[in-house]
Amino acid sequence: MSDNATKSTIERKQNHVEICLRDDVAFNGITTGFERFAFEHNALPELSFADIDLSATFLGKAIGAPLMISSMTGGYSEAYTLNQRFAEAAEQFGIPLGVGSMRQALENSSYRESFAVVRKFAPTIQIFANIGAPEVAGGLTENDINVLLELLRADGLIVHLNAAQELFQPEGNTDFRHVLEQIAILTAKIPVPVIVKEVGCGISASVARRLIEAGVDVIDVAGSGGSSWQKVEEIRYTRQFGQEKRFSQPALDELLNWGIPTAQCLLDISRLKRESPGFNDIESIASGGIQCGTDIAKSLALGAQLAASARCLLKALHEGTLEETIASWLNDLRAVMFLTGAANIAELRNKTLITKQ
Ligand SMILES: Cc1cc2nc3c(=O)[nH]c(=O)nc-3n(C[C@H](O)[C@H](O)[C@H](O)COP(=O)(O)O)c2cc1C
Repeated sequence: MSDNATKSTIERKQNHVEICLRDDVAFNGITTGFERFAFEHNALPELSFADIDLSATFLGKAIGAPLMISSMTGGYSEAYTLNQRFAEAAEQFGIPLGVGSMRQALENSSYRESFAVVRKFAPTIQIFANIGAPEVAGGLTENDINVLLELLRADGLIVHLNAAQELFQPEGNTDFRHVLEQIAILTAKIPVPVIVKEVGCGISASVARRLIEAGVDVIDVAGSGGSSWQKVEEIRYTRQFGQEKRFSQPALDELLNWGIPTAQCLLDISRLKRESPGFNDIESIASGGIQCGTDIAKSLALGAQLAASARCLLKALHEGTLEETIASWLNDLRAVMFLTGAANIAELRNKTLITKQ
């Protein structure tokens, strides 16, 4: 891989963090859909708040709570500290953690420690490697897979599908041919579970079906209502090329806010699982716009195994409140469990959600 390609990968990952911290990249007029639901109140919870148990499982392993720190960064020097801090927090709460795209680690051996650091500071939790659809489409070699997994002693590999992001990215790769075929080849030869996620446009039931049939173990919906990666890349494009327009204005507004809301994805995937008994063991992750513990609770009642968050936790880390934020979200979750009479996560999954008018 050329030095220029590596330089561009490094700069892009730096830009992403800076833009997510400083600019408005939230969807406009599109929400996660969680606000459409409320739990039925239980006036007789018959349990003590102090006894509520948040522990859960993911891919058959025990976790401290049904929350994950989503894939974000790695591959440049400052990413070392960010990943160290995410790893420390994830280890403290016993929750899973994903690192950002490891494309840079495949292109070049510098900065690999900015990924490997997570295992150093989080020896016991589940950690997930990450790679993009364009790299998978190109065909990952045995050596590539070894690099991705061994750097982190990873418990699984996350593949991100980011067509809308690549479409808006100034240097984006919009050749999405052969992705599914290569995912099927990957799942057949990799020794760990494969998770496929979007990055904010959501995964529909029909795409989930094709992924599951290709051997994918977990679907992370990463729906709309949180961070718009079209907006992140549009900001990068405008910085490079000024106001030069690629799309007409009315279409641009729609494309920047394109996607399937997170709650809708969860409903659709739950229905798919009910209708396809062979998909019973498939777990789903609720992500895209998770911003508190009531969102986590609703995610579980809508069928997700756990919820995951990216930009809110990055901002909390930047503001020095990462652990405090996670603790408050888990306390929100406890509050919902108390008010619905759920002593543990398994009971919460069966609580009734009412659709608001
Ligand atoms: C700074 C930043 C970098 C990201 N980089 C990656 C990445 O490399 N790979 C990936 O799968 N997702 C990446 N994401 C996307 C998130 O994992 C997540 O799917 C998306 O931001 C939606 O979640 P949110 O609304 O909680 O931010 C990144 C997110 C942020 C905030």
